[in-house]
Amino acid sequence: MSNTLLKIESVCKIYPGNILALNNVNININNNEIIAILGPSGSGKSTLIRTILGLTSLNKGNIYFRSKNYKDNNFNIIRNSIATIYQNFNLVSRSSIIKNIILGDIAKVSSWRLLFNVWPKETQDKAKDIIEEVGLNDIDYNKRVENLSGGQQQRVGIARALIGSPDIILADEPVSNLDPQTAKDILNLIRKTAKKNNISVLCSLHQTNFAKTFADRIIGMKEGNILFDKPAKKILKFDLNKLYK
Ligand SMILES: Nc1ncnc2c1ncn2[C@@H]1O[C@H](COP(=O)(O)OP(=O)(O)OP(=O)(O)O)[C@@H](O)[C@H]1O
Ligand SMILES: [Mg+2]
Repeated sequence: MSNTLLKIESVCKIYPGNILALNNVNININNNEIIAILGPSGSGKSTLIRTILGLTSLNKGNIYFRSKNYKDNNFNIIRNSIATIYQNFNLVSRSSIIKNIILGDIAKVSSWRLLFNVWPKETQDKAKDIIEEVGLNDIDYNKRVENLSGGQQQRVGIARALIGSPDIILADEPVSNLDPQTAKDILNLIRKTAKKNNISVLCSLHQTNFAKTFADRIIGMKEGNILFDKPAKKILKFDLNKLYK
């Protein structure tokens, strides 16, 4: 069986105004692989993530999940396999820790449960296990997330991504709003939980030093082009200079 989970093939994205955000991008993401995307502002990192999520249409190219092409509104085949983590956490700030986490499994939660806030014991138990896994077990899980620190909120964000047992997590600058030590802790947590649960990760970052310890592989993007795609251990100063010069 192929080890490729997600294949991005000859993808082009042109925004109105003739802005070429992705220029013939080819990426293979393997099972259980952690990839960091580096690149200056405007290089196309978020566009790439949005394209994989089906939030932005392609001008050219194909995206395959487990060899199935899901262009052309066929996003349903991957909806339950992809989870996201965002820079601004994207939580429901007035809701509790546990409710935010359970909302990550929304595809499997019926609308009346959402309305009345009643969850099956099995879902609650799963959420509690994940709360422990992300290191939030010392906090009352009924606490509103707006009363948590940024690092704690991103732990909720990670838990929400994990609860649906995805095959891949897409993270767009997940540590940009955090202090350096917390950022390091959060990236370590993403790496540890992804490896433990056999999840692939595609994560955009601005910190090159973090990318080297976090990722198995690093992709450098500039002006919509892939400049390099290498194992993290083989990234040279030369590569980074080329990317940011
Ligand atoms: N909705 C949009 N409409 C038009 N142009 C856009 C849109 N979104 C992004 N762009 C343009 O596409 C290019 C790539 O933007 P993108 O947001 O993907 O970059 P990025 O690498 O994520 O940058 P950053 O590091 O600042 O987040 C930029 O030139 C940007 O101005
Ligand atoms: Mg971006």
